[in-house]
Amino acid sequence: MPVTVIVGAQWGDEGKGKITDMLASEADVVARFQGGDNAGHTVVYGGWTLKLHQVPSGVLHDGALCVLGGGMVINPRTLLRELDDLQEKGALRARLLISGRAHLIMPYHVLLDGASESRLGAAMIGTTRRGIGPAYQDKAARTGLRAYDMTLAPADFAAKVRRAVEDKNVFLERVYGLEPLDPDAIAQEFAGYAERLRGFVADDSLAINRAIERGERVLLEGAQGPLLDIDHGTYPYVTSSSTVTGGALAVLGIGARQVSRVLGVAKAYQTRVGEGPFPTEQLGEAGNRLRGTGQNLWDEFGTTTGRPRRCGWLDLVAVSYSARVCGLTELVLTKFDILSGFETIKVCTAYSLDGQLLDSFVPQAESLAKVTPVYTEMPGWTEPLGEARRFEDLPVRAQDYVRLIEQRTGLPVSVISVGPEREQTIIR
Ligand code: IMP
Repeated sequence: MPVTVIVGAQWGDEGKGKITDMLASEADVVARFQGGDNAGHTVVYGGWTLKLHQVPSGVLHDGALCVLGGGMVINPRTLLRELDDLQEKGALRARLLISGRAHLIMPYHVLLDGASESRLGAAMIGTTRRGIGPAYQDKAARTGLRAYDMTLAPADFAAKVRRAVEDKNVFLERVYGLEPLDPDAIAQEFAGYAERLRGFVADDSLAINRAIERGERVLLEGAQGPLLDIDHGTYPYVTSSSTVTGGALAVLGIGARQVSRVLGVAKAYQTRVGEGPFPTEQLGEAGNRLRGTGQNLWDEFGTTTGRPRRCGWLDLVAVSYSARVCGLTELVLTKFDILSGFETIKVCTAYSLDGQLLDSFVPQAESLAKVTPVYTEMPGWTEPLGEARRFEDLPVRAQDYVRLIEQRTGLPVSVISVGPEREQTIIR
């Protein structure tokens, strides 16, 4: 069973990029399956700091097939910028395949995302304003443009683009009072994108299943996290795609029996960007310390939007929920080095709601906003962890922290990341 799935175990930003990059060195195929340039995966290697938004984190590996999968929404404008940047750095080592079924993020999607957020005002979702929601809306409404459309005769693609822009101008002008877009200018712009990208467009499901038949190793890379999942997340404060294991298989067209490992990446504490309930959020000193000042690459500021992330203590009720809805087989713990220096560390192991003790997550946003976290307090440690390479190198209190996670989630913590570099990793 050659398929390994990597998903988040929180609200995204768990450090999936580093782990995917590490595992990608042993993979033949790395496939992103959902989301678009709302994601930001940072990979540090050999003096490069790569901020990947749409290209899978396996891109650094010679000969690997990197797939932008059928559940993605792709912005050709920003994708080409990303590819040019990678090419310039000599980092584009993999072969690229863009699923023909992936939908295109168009300029009107970006405008509609921003306009919708502004209109919601205080009730806004806090999206990345990259047009993700509106592009998935068009997919569900069956009015979207897909990567396959870029492979049509240029005149046919241009006609489709023009018609789509004309349709959306109605919304832009009449609903939001915005200036209409120029259908001809956008058709021309997208003709240029199609020219450069059409050669990569293919049937991702066929390519991946052929690879599986040949006994090749396939890695599926999730973006965001289960708590932002359209079905299982804290709706409506979610993204518009399926971020869980089942979603990956559905959109890529892979059978469930092919999957052997499902890794859930969890940060040693909890973060969230955008609006929505966050039971263990720390608004004071602890939250500020976890966030950092923004001077360092790994401080808690969004890779895509630069927004400061909301920070708080690790929520094992939420992580266990992610484990359940994703069928995790193991956990990867990241950013463990950030916890050094806290006198006491808190871990949420249950919720209290209306006088009742709950040991399972509350997916309804309004109720989750009312829970009080029940904490287990642990003594902290002062030693920096960046040099640890074996579990035994960790201070005993840090080892206890890992054991508590294992005990409460029922999952082994098989990898621990203690810094941004590839070698700052403990594999157990
Ligand atoms: P959207 O995906 O841009 O529609 O944003 C919906 C919600 O998901 C917002 O709360 C975003 O902050 C959040 N979000 C989207 N992408 C990411 C990500 O890559 N990391 C963390 N949060 C994200």
